Amino acid sequence: MIFMEILMRQMKWMLGTGLLLALALPLRPFAQEGAGDVVYVPTPQIVVEEMLRMAKVGPGDFVIDLGSGDGRMVITAAKQFGARGFGVDLDTVLLKLSNENARREGVADRARFIEQNLFETDLSQATVITSYLLPEMNEKLRPKLLNLKPGTRVVAHDYHMGEWHADEMRTLDVPEKKVGNPGKSYVYRWIVPAKIAGRWQSQIATGAAPANWEFEFEQRFQMFDGVAKNGSRKITLRVPKLEGDQLSFQFFTKPGDNSTRFEFKGTVKGDVIDGALKLGDGAAQKQLPWNAKLVQRAASPQ
Ligand SMILES: C[S@@+](CC[C@H](N)C(=O)[O-])C[C@H]1O[C@@H](n2cnc3c(N)ncnc32)[C@H](O)[C@@H]1O
Repeated sequence: MIFMEILMRQMKWMLGTGLLLALALPLRPFAQEGAGDVVYVPTPQIVVEEMLRMAKVGPGDFVIDLGSGDGRMVITAAKQFGARGFGVDLDTVLLKLSNENARREGVADRARFIEQNLFETDLSQATVITSYLLPEMNEKLRPKLLNLKPGTRVVAHDYHMGEWHADEMRTLDVPEKKVGNPGKSYVYRWIVPAKIAGRWQSQIATGAAPANWEFEFEQRFQMFDGVAKNGSRKITLRVPKLEGDQLSFQFFTKPGDNSTRFEFKGTVKGDVIDGALKLGDGAAQKQLPWNAKLVQRAASPQ
């Protein structure tokens, strides 16, 4: 019955004025009744599975699908990957169908579907966010996603997130796909970065007495660069990397052969970084505990 209702709606719209729009706008071929910022187009099942694999979904994860359609994303996450989660949609027919699908697949206790506007949904429980929305919707969601717990994975079908470049993008051949770029699906994955922009202070005991070091990080989403300062010395950081709450960078004390490599790795925990420092290379290498404390936060783009 529900399938028939969806089919009838789609046909009604295709035969009406929607046909012209359907030809012009790749993600708008099937009309919905009721509110909604993008119409229903299901993600092909092989793409669903690839998205969940790219997000490394497992039994410890809580997946939220923004605009959940027939529920396939959260149902697959529960049934094949052992996760739990919920989907939100504004279409009551699709919500009824998705809750029925979850029951039929035996995962209704771990996959729920709720009538809710995705822009107003509380995402704080999520470890993984999935979506198949238009780019302008992704960009509108971006500040909210960047405020999620560092390490939260975000995977989106077909559309990017503007200036927040994906950490990974894969292209899949999907012969049955007729919308967007027919025959192809693009999957984007981001990892929510910790907020590190600002000035951090550390004490580092390379010799007999600990010395004060200050780090200044400039951040653009998951990218950052910066300098380390010790007295009048100012050294540019090399190979900076931020993945979720995992931070690493290094510097050399001076150019040339007598230089010592300082290699930092740490976990960002709000205003504190806890980690380790490797000093030097080879047999003479020393490892020391390292921690830093935020003294002045700077804004990072949202
Ligand atoms: C392109 S479909 C994707 C469905 C599903 N996520 C998938 O990948 O198969 C987008 C879905 O978002 C829903 N939607 C559109 N605007 C919404 C909004 N503001 N809040 C919640 N759902 C919305 C639509 O009803 C539709 O089911």
